[in-house]
Amino acid sequence: MCGIIGISSNKPVSANIINSLKKLEYRGYDSAGIATLSDGQINEVKSEGRVDNLENNFDLKNLRGNIGIGHVRWATHGIPNSLNAHPHSSHNVSVVHNGIIENSTILKKHLINKGHEFKSQTDTEVIVHLITENLKTSELEEAITKTLEQLDGSFALGIVFRDIPDLIVGARRGSPLAVGYGPNENYLGSDSYALKSMTNKITYLDDGEFCVVKKDQVLFFNEDGKKINKKILEMSSNETNYDKGDFKHFMAKEIEEQPITIKTGIKEYIDNVNKEINIFNFPWKIEEIKSITLIGCGTAYHSCLMAKYWFEELTNLDVSIDIASEFRYRKNRFKKDTLYVFVSQSGETADTYAALDLCNKNSMKTCAIVNVIESSIARDSNFVLPIHCGPEIGVASTKAFLGQILVLYILALKLGSLRNEIEKKEYQEKIKDLKDLPGLIEKTLSYDNDIQAISSTFNEAKGSMFLGRGYSYPIALEGALKLKELSYVHAEGYPAGEMKHGPLALIEEGMPVVVLAPKDSYYKKTISNLQEVVARGAKVLLITNKSKDEVVSENIWETIEVENTNDDLFPFLLTIPLQKLAYYSALKKGYDIDKPRNLAKSVTVE
Ligand code: AGP
Repeated sequence: MCGIIGISSNKPVSANIINSLKKLEYRGYDSAGIATLSDGQINEVKSEGRVDNLENNFDLKNLRGNIGIGHVRWATHGIPNSLNAHPHSSHNVSVVHNGIIENSTILKKHLINKGHEFKSQTDTEVIVHLITENLKTSELEEAITKTLEQLDGSFALGIVFRDIPDLIVGARRGSPLAVGYGPNENYLGSDSYALKSMTNKITYLDDGEFCVVKKDQVLFFNEDGKKINKKILEMSSNETNYDKGDFKHFMAKEIEEQPITIKTGIKEYIDNVNKEINIFNFPWKIEEIKSITLIGCGTAYHSCLMAKYWFEELTNLDVSIDIASEFRYRKNRFKKDTLYVFVSQSGETADTYAALDLCNKNSMKTCAIVNVIESSIARDSNFVLPIHCGPEIGVASTKAFLGQILVLYILALKLGSLRNEIEKKEYQEKIKDLKDLPGLIEKTLSYDNDIQAISSTFNEAKGSMFLGRGYSYPIALEGALKLKELSYVHAEGYPAGEMKHGPLALIEEGMPVVVLAPKDSYYKKTISNLQEVVARGAKVLLITNKSKDEVVSENIWETIEVENTNDDLFPFLLTIPLQKLAYYSALKKGYDIDKPRNLAKSVTVE
């Protein structure tokens, strides 16, 4: 949830740290700070808000020092202000932290009793004073090992020391942390994205490990303080275009990229010549898998819910789904013949990683469906199915959602075929239909104007509902989430058939209600539900598909017709107008679309 950068160099580091912090802002943007070492002192500057504020408030060009750490924050303990911004420093130690220290209250009391004075409301400041205290009686590595043992909770740390001005210490437990290697300098960063502009040589720390980063040497240690060797990975050098290009926002770019990203995903897994799906090196025999459990958070959870319908339909397997933050504490009955699938764009979501870790501890079969292949969830799963969408920077997930459900659909088709649950002819038909999907998405993207015009109604309403049945229900949830997280208005996704069991009471004159009703097997039932809300004054936006039959037209406020395809694929097309609806609602409100308030792109704390 926060972003960390550290650089140990033979030249001044403040400019590079600031540039890296800007790349890390998608991980949190409540406040930012930097600390460098020079002339026997810690130079700490920090401010509330964006990294730009830091640059506006301080003369960073004259911030001396060839070694330093930086941080962008998403607040967990303590309100977002300059006092609670990281780094936190004592007279001789400065720390940046991502994670939550669960025993900070008791440690703080202990340290205050020893005379330490605290300035902030953060849990992080406890780490600063604990290290300062331990350095009084121990050499560096021992002081670090001792400090880490005393901390409960999760952390990725970057630490510099006034009296040892040639190194940075990094430590990882539960929050990602990587080392990068450069010419006459080395780096510490929360993820490869922050480091990619400086190097493509990366080493990831694993939980319990710490490292000592000098400009010309990096050492790694395990939790016992013993030196260990770690692999240096060469990251894919296909530097994906990280800037917005001609788009106003990353989200707008990422919505428009979807025909390409879906085409890439199809190319990665579909052999169109032989009408076959290639999932290479699948580590299990199909008969070893008797059920599937899909786990994720937020949009990724909606992908799991979407996949549940496809897996049930195409594989005849038992399928369960769970929200990761629930799964990790549930009394789970782990089964050897269940395949546990973890869906995560970032591959770093703490709750999803904790659910994976639980399955690993029970020696379960685990598969990750991620966008970031170097991520923790990918690295610690038995098998990885990348979604190949390129970096998704907008906090609100768009192309990654479509990428996730594409890979899940492809996996369901493949397993269904291997289990002989799908006739070969039908299997090949479905593969053929997939080939047309990018073009259909392209066409659906073009309904821009209609959506811009209706988006203000959603802004002016005190709330809205998104309804769907069957395959459309997960998309209704996703559409509501997009509107909530971008325009900060209440929106609720609901099964259309459930409205009469209570939420119908919410419907009042003029309330906007989105009804997703492609002409699939649920259509007629959904139209009846549509009439129920119309009868109570709702303003219905009907999203259906083009067809010769007359569309239900009386008393419908607006209708959007997506392109025709087979029923399996309507969810891809229905999603597009909902992404745009949320985008234009937020645009009209003038909100920060790529960095909505209170959110971050990767929730690496629980
Ligand atoms: C989606 O728009 C949100 N930003 C959020 O719900 C996100 O999907 C969730 O935090 C999971 O993230 P992940 O896919 O990186 O695990």
